[in-house]
Amino acid sequence: MSSDPASTTLYERVGKEPFFVKLVDKFYEGVEQDAVLRPLYPEDLGPGKAHLAGFLSQYWGGPPNYSMERGHPALRMRHAPFAIGQVERDAWVLHMTEAVADSDASPQDTILMLAYFTDAGTFLMNRG
Ligand code: HEM
Repeated sequence: MSSDPASTTLYERVGKEPFFVKLVDKFYEGVEQDAVLRPLYPEDLGPGKAHLAGFLSQYWGGPPNYSMERGHPALRMRHAPFAIGQVERDAWVLHMTEAVADSDASPQDTILMLAYFTDAGTFLMNRG
């Protein structure tokens, strides 16, 4: 694995799909205990976990398995059914920040992921 961010994808640097599966597992531990977020998610968290891990793998340079299975990500459209205001956005970003911090991603890749999650979280707000 190269540590030169210009010559590899983040997907490759962090350890490919298993990294994102673990990241999403950690993130969902936070969601499960969150009084704001838990009610927004379905009873069975399994399918959503797999979709998020697949999406993130693809987003960061991995194979396009998410789109083959789910179609275009269209994240704003897919989140339209959930009321996402500042409180929901902040709770989501907090749990993902904790999951990234708990991972073994390099400091540079940590910065890249956190910048993406904070921006995308704001972009997905659809209330307030
Ligand atoms: C950084 C921002 C975010 C990203 C990249 C993201 C990504 C995703 C993806 C890829 C899915 C699966 C879509 C599919 O069905 O294929 C999903 C589902 C979902 N997201 Fe997000 N999301 C983000 C922020 C949020 C926020 C802020 C909330 C709410 C507070 C939220 C709540 C949900 C819920 C409730 C689902 C459905 C889960 C399920 O069906 O099991 N997301 N998200």
